[in-house]
Amino acid sequence: MEPTAWPGIFREGRDFYTVNRVPGVRVYGEVLRSVGAVEYRLWDPWRSKLASLLAKGAPRDLFGEVRRVLYLGGAHGTTVSHLSDLWPEGEIFVVEKSPTAFAPLLAVARRRTNLLPLLADAQLPERYLADVGEVDLVYQDVAQRNQAAIFIENARATLRPAGRGVLMLKVRSITQRRPAAAIVREARAELGRGGCTVDHEVPLAPFSREHVALLVHR
Ligand SMILES: C[S@@+](CC[C@H](N)C(=O)[O-])C[C@H]1O[C@@H](n2cnc3c(N)ncnc32)[C@H](O)[C@@H]1O
Repeated sequence: MEPTAWPGIFREGRDFYTVNRVPGVRVYGEVLRSVGAVEYRLWDPWRSKLASLLAKGAPRDLFGEVRRVLYLGGAHGTTVSHLSDLWPEGEIFVVEKSPTAFAPLLAVARRRTNLLPLLADAQLPERYLADVGEVDLVYQDVAQRNQAAIFIENARATLRPAGRGVLMLKVRSITQRRPAAAIVREARAELGRGGCTVDHEVPLAPFSREHVALLVHR
């Protein structure tokens, strides 16, 4: 097991791992590997877009200095659980609007005290702004038509100056008829008008052919 350029992320062959904060417990059926006294959890790029971004070659300073995170679209906590492994001392606010997804997310957070789930709509950041305060990183994976606008509103409300953002842009959910490249171009322009600079654009194929990761800063 080798450390990677991303702090807290390890590699064995082509596989990525994080150190399991809750030894012996799986979150989504992932493989656990013990090396000496340390237990690692496999981070599957076919299950988590953030792991696919790593596999596609994310910059080494992808996250910057992170202590507080706003994660939009937590679902059942697959990716969130790996962020929980990465930043044991951090606070990761996880917004999820579906009550069905929120129940398993809560179960994950019960064992991982750095996760702070919020049952809320990411389109209404004013509803959770007071709880979240200022964050170092906004991560978004919500698959909505107005993804860029949602990201901008949340970044405006919570992201500290020079803070980072990762927007998993679902190019098919905006419209089926237009080329993905045009959709990405428009999202980048909208983010720019909203005060977010796009530093990198990483298509996530073959892991997800419908997503492009936009890495931004304020
Ligand atoms: C693709 S899944 C997220 C997967 C998750 N990020 C992961 O990697 O483990 C998208 C999630 O976003 C949630 N979602 C969609 N629109 C939302 C909104 N406006 N506010 C909050 N959550 C939303 C959905 O309920 C769904 O659980």
